[in-house]
Amino acid sequence: MSFPRITAAEAVALIKNGETIGLSGFTPAGAPKSVPAEIAHKAEAEHAAGRPFVINILSGASTGQSCDGELSNQHAIGFRAPYTTNSDFRKHVNAGEIAYSDLNLSNMATQIRQGYLGDVHWAIIEACEVERVGDKAHIYLTAGGGISPTVSRLAKNGIIIELNAFHSKASMGIHDVYELEYHPHRTPINITKASDRIGKPYVEVDADRIVGVVECNIPDEARSFKDPDPITTQIGQNVADFLLDNMKRGLIPPTFLNLQSGVGSGANAVLGALGQCPEVPNFNIYTEVLQDAPVALMKQGRVLSASACSLTVTNECMKGVYDDMDFFRDKIVLRPSEISNNPEVIARLGVCSLNTAIEVDIYGHVNSTKICGTKMMNGIGGSADFTCNSYLSIFTCGSTTKGGAISSIVPFASHIDHTSHFVNAVITEYGVADLRGKCAMDKAKELIKVAHPDYRPMLNDYLRYAERYGGHTHHCLSAAFAMHDTFLRKGDMRLTDWAEYVK
Ligand code: COA
Repeated sequence: MSFPRITAAEAVALIKNGETIGLSGFTPAGAPKSVPAEIAHKAEAEHAAGRPFVINILSGASTGQSCDGELSNQHAIGFRAPYTTNSDFRKHVNAGEIAYSDLNLSNMATQIRQGYLGDVHWAIIEACEVERVGDKAHIYLTAGGGISPTVSRLAKNGIIIELNAFHSKASMGIHDVYELEYHPHRTPINITKASDRIGKPYVEVDADRIVGVVECNIPDEARSFKDPDPITTQIGQNVADFLLDNMKRGLIPPTFLNLQSGVGSGANAVLGALGQCPEVPNFNIYTEVLQDAPVALMKQGRVLSASACSLTVTNECMKGVYDDMDFFRDKIVLRPSEISNNPEVIARLGVCSLNTAIEVDIYGHVNSTKICGTKMMNGIGGSADFTCNSYLSIFTCGSTTKGGAISSIVPFASHIDHTSHFVNAVITEYGVADLRGKCAMDKAKELIKVAHPDYRPMLNDYLRYAERYGGHTHHCLSAAFAMHDTFLRKGDMRLTDWAEYVK
């Protein structure tokens, strides 16, 4: 007997003001689309009728426009965790309209199990197939693992399935679904190489928990990537040279490390450049999101296997994977985020993490999330999960942004996501700041070397002023944010006049 088919509107009629929905997917990959868009319509109608309607959203990571975008535009999100990249959502968060909690993504399912995030009322899960096997249902996920097993098990009112025909049934088996136990009964996670499988290829729930299946055919709301440019290509080359030099010096094993690469166009371009470098051995990936570049490298034989939480790829790339599942089946494994990003596994495997910084300060503290300390850009994602547990943790960024008006190397990061204790190297188009084994003041010299030449004299001037105050890390607190303040007032950090700030 198959599960009852319902419309998105019938599903949404079940969801009440103030309830919490837990979503499948990770980034727009695998996130439900039809039901969230219908929730936004309901919110619009309820608000027009003068009735309150907001929901809380828990997910693996970001979602797409039909969820974070439309719901925030309809003022229908009360609380949201843990990560998003949607520009409409960002606007409403920065306007102070949404209670947004940024979390390390490996910890999201645990915090739900611990009850820190309250009750989950509904799980809305995108699937490419759902099968009834006795009194159980087997839900085959699509392009992202996220928190699906946890919210499917815990949702108090039941599970709504979005059966999305865009995702090929050929992908059944790509997931390895494994949920961590409750404390204090956790057991070791038996993954010793990226391609290991320890769970089931589906989410298993009691069949009677599925309240209905909404059929649809909607592509993932994937973002396109900016093409690599001379700067990202140079950064990629610098990363490759650094890793090769480390191999020659015996600082990383000759078998190389598993690579993790972050999100966004920068990370996509860096990994692409690394793969093109013939001296870099073929490698395995243990990461959070697989973007287009590593999928292309798999086809070239440069990437041997990849463990990730999602296929955050363009729809064209996704179609290529689905059309060639015989090739990809034993090479890609998608996991729930608490496993793809798990500190225990990352530390065991030996991972080189490659994440993108918004800015880095001269002592090596990294800001990945906030512009000028206040405006949320994205969440921290899994960058700290990987950075804190890696064998070698690297941050990359262009030395400037906004046409040179902003330096990525600053005296004091205006917000700190990763403290210098966990940051091994920072790489820009000007080279590598190798921070390993260095004291704070030597880290500063190393980091100023990779700043844009326009900003090196300015940063050296800051250090000279800061020296007067002594201490382990020299700072002149009245001038520490002078470059940010000048950008906010005059639109260009290069116009910083230290005399205005140094007291
Ligand atoms: N000040 C102001 N704006 C800045 C900035 C700074 N110091 N640094 C970057 N920006 C702006 C860019 O100008 C660009 O703006 P635009 O969209 O108007 O063009 C935007 O931020 C994105 O920068 P871009 O260089 O295109 O970076 P990206 O696409 O490679 O993304 C991050 C960079 C940091 C936003 C992204 O990597 C991220 O969200 N990181 C946090 C999560 C994470 O690391 N996850 C990985 C876990 S596995």
